[in-house]
Amino acid sequence: MTVDFDRIYDRKGTDSSKWHKYPPDVLPMFVADMDFRSPDVVVEALRTRVEHGFFGYGREPTEFYEVAARRIGERYGWAVAPEAIVAVPGVVAGVNLAAQTFTSGGGVALQTPAYPPILACPEKFGATSRRARLVQDESGRYTPDWDEFEAAVAASEMFILCNPHNPVGRAFERDELERMAKACERHDVLIVSDEIHCDLVFRGHRHTPIASLSPAVEARTITFMAPSKTFNLPGLKTSIAIIPDAALRERFVAARADLVRGPNILGLAAATAAYRDGTPWLTEALAYIEGNRDYVTSFVRTNLPGIHVYPAEATYLAWLDCRGADATADDPYTFFLEKAKVGLSDGATFGEDGRGFVRLNFACPRPMLVEGLGRMQRSLAGG
Ligand SMILES: Cc1ncc(COP(=O)(O)O)c(C=O)c1O
Repeated sequence: MTVDFDRIYDRKGTDSSKWHKYPPDVLPMFVADMDFRSPDVVVEALRTRVEHGFFGYGREPTEFYEVAARRIGERYGWAVAPEAIVAVPGVVAGVNLAAQTFTSGGGVALQTPAYPPILACPEKFGATSRRARLVQDESGRYTPDWDEFEAAVAASEMFILCNPHNPVGRAFERDELERMAKACERHDVLIVSDEIHCDLVFRGHRHTPIASLSPAVEARTITFMAPSKTFNLPGLKTSIAIIPDAALRERFVAARADLVRGPNILGLAAATAAYRDGTPWLTEALAYIEGNRDYVTSFVRTNLPGIHVYPAEATYLAWLDCRGADATADDPYTFFLEKAKVGLSDGATFGEDGRGFVRLNFACPRPMLVEGLGRMQRSLAGG
């Protein structure tokens, strides 16, 4: 390792939303923001850009689109033209823009439990959520309830996929994606695929962009990716929509133009450096995070009685099923906040089937993770 991922940096007093949400005695382990410093190549690119001292309106730099397209080809075997890529100020903004642009009061299918902004998206635009559950097998691994999925898609004009999935940590297999895509083709449904966690996939699994399944699927899909989760740059608000179909892209770009007046020049400088030069950092970060994933899994199984976890295949989020822990009753979020002083994400905000769960972010220095899990263990033991 060339990067010291064990090092704890003090992020208090930096207007970090993660580190300012709770009082100082609470360890925040919620929002999907890493407690690792971004790669040096990114910091250096920003420093160079800042030193210039001019921050006027930017144009969209061709290098960014070329670098992003080449990387998608190399990492995911999906041939994307740079022209198919459109910059957006965040994936949530992009998903909402797609829903605003491409729905007309019909249904929007989504899989629960769901990342809260995805859960809330349809109704914002006068559409109706058609929810289909992801259900657990006896090991705790989630897969789609296919009957519910088929019914949801049949009643929808758009399907918002989240792959890899936040919060359940699945990197969907090719055959699962094929089955989802076939249903969307059968019912002529547009696919909006949030693939923001695509670079954070652990050994034994791989990321398949749903649009890469076939030209026909690609033509009905808007895919979102970003360097933000991968390289810890979410505050720079720079993400991409990949829209190979020219007609869809034109409509999306026209809708964007009214709302987002030109690119974020610092975000693009950081994103270009991250995509172009950040892979060595990412390789190390992923190995470290996978070690944390294994630590969480074994700690929960050994030391947190009544709590179940299925090891995440991707993302840096552990989805903890606390329904078997008497002490946490049906509100483990409040229990751990008050008794353990650990700030997690409340499963109930991911939909009804998230009740009794909490989500823990393990992209942090190992000593911090050990501290957080230790606090949770002591709180369950009544200490
Ligand atoms: C699935 C998913 N989509 C989108 C986002 C946020 O994306 P952005 O900050 O680019 O809006 C997150 C952040 O946690 C996420 O987990």
